[in-house]
Amino acid sequence: MNILVINGPNLNLLGVREPDLYGKQDYTALVALVEETCAQEGMEVEVFQSNHEGAIVDRIQAALGTADGIVINPAAYTHTSVAILDALKAVNLPAVEVHISDVSQREDFRQVSYAGMACVQTYMGLGLEGYRKAILFLKDYLQHR
Ligand code: DQA
Repeated sequence: MNILVINGPNLNLLGVREPDLYGKQDYTALVALVEETCAQEGMEVEVFQSNHEGAIVDRIQAALGTADGIVINPAAYTHTSVAILDALKAVNLPAVEVHISDVSQREDFRQVSYAGMACVQTYMGLGLEGYRKAILFLKDYLQHR
């Protein structure tokens, strides 16, 4: 089982960026958590981060034929990007959405998730633990679909 974990803009600044919202652990800690979880579960993983919408679309497209599923935190593009939604629909791979913060309790403009419309599950407000839950969910989903 081979999965792709995608992180959108400003998530490279985890630990520095609004720590009250996103926690004190940095992006390297997030990558380590993802890689350790996947290793424990016997899954292969590639972790990708970009601040650029088109690069994220390109990476989703490249997953076609190489990955079995996707975990994605599109960050701010969650609330704006029809292109990322369309890319997820185009490759038609099971995708799980993650948000570190609880976007349901934040500003009105964060209340829509375009990417979420193409995802089989969403975890939010659980900090980095949400990524672990998303990976475990995706493994189970891929095994039982
Ligand atoms: C986020 C929530 C988004 O609204 C925000 O733009 C982010 C991070 C989260 O993980 O909580 O950059 O996706």
